Amino acid sequence: QLHDLAVRAGLKYFGTAVREGSTSSDAAYMAIINNKSEFGSVVPENGQKWESTEPSRGSFSYTQGDITANIAKKNGQSLRCHTLVWHSQLPSWVSSATWTRANLQAVIETHVTNVMGHYLGQCYAWDVLNEAVNDDGAWRDSVFLRTFGTDYFAIAFAAAKKADPVSKLYYNDYNLEYNGAKTSKAFELVQIVQAAGAPINGVGFQAHLIVGGTPSRSSLATALRRFTALGVEVAYTELDIRHSSLPASAAALATQGNDFANVVGSCLDVAGCVGVTVWSYTDKYSWVPETFSGAGDALLYDKNLAKKAAWTSVSSVL
Ligand code: XIL
Repeated sequence: QLHDLAVRAGLKYFGTAVREGSTSSDAAYMAIINNKSEFGSVVPENGQKWESTEPSRGSFSYTQGDITANIAKKNGQSLRCHTLVWHSQLPSWVSSATWTRANLQAVIETHVTNVMGHYLGQCYAWDVLNEAVNDDGAWRDSVFLRTFGTDYFAIAFAAAKKADPVSKLYYNDYNLEYNGAKTSKAFELVQIVQAAGAPINGVGFQAHLIVGGTPSRSSLATALRRFTALGVEVAYTELDIRHSSLPASAAALATQGNDFANVVGSCLDVAGCVGVTVWSYTDKYSWVPETFSGAGDALLYDKNLAKKAAWTSVSSVL
């Protein structure tokens, strides 16, 4: 079972995202999530995002976020918390207004204080800042960047530390796995936060990858080590490896298994890599086909909740 194997191999956890909408309707799906030997950590797929937790100014709601937090509590699993400051799934009262620095800073601080306060003592880690860099290595445009320039990075991390001094505070992004311009810019982001005297404890590699296009185990480890050299831990936080076209051939399923083994193996190779989280564990519930047209089957279990070749590859590398 993946979490038990991962712990024996030196990681803190092997975990999965939880699709809130399926937790009450799909007992078979839940039985695997509730198996702590398989998944020692859970993260809400959507329930803790700004649009869920503060849909209108000053009005906080934790119903969706609590679904996954309560699963973790009941099963004695670790909880990753996701996410506080992000340009997406951000309500329009934040994204569409024109702000002064002072007013938007107060909005960020109120949001962070309330949401982290609600989950105090429950989160192993928080994705404080999500996806602030473009694939081409520029800072990502958002209401935050337009208002503060890069000063909002440190504002978010400082507010997070004040609200919850214990959780590991993460920067989280995708396509950091390729060691390209985006990886370098994220490296710069960590340095900016550190230079501002704000606390940052981790960098999350989302790892939304493509079958056959996944970097080798050693290049993946190189990318992880660039960040651990800055004194932060790293983790794979949203791992999925999609087939670009479906149905996948037997050869493509084997390549997928190999790619998964390289990702998990690279975490084992790097001292500061603490764990791996898959972005849902089953092809039955995945954002991939909803987002990348024609692509899919990116996970460890198939639509019938049967283990795939990728599951076997991960279990043998652990
Ligand atoms: C995705 C969810 O999986 C979808 O259900 C939702 O519609 C959109 O967001 N990066 C992240 C995650 O940090 O929060 C995103 O999750 C996937 C990309």
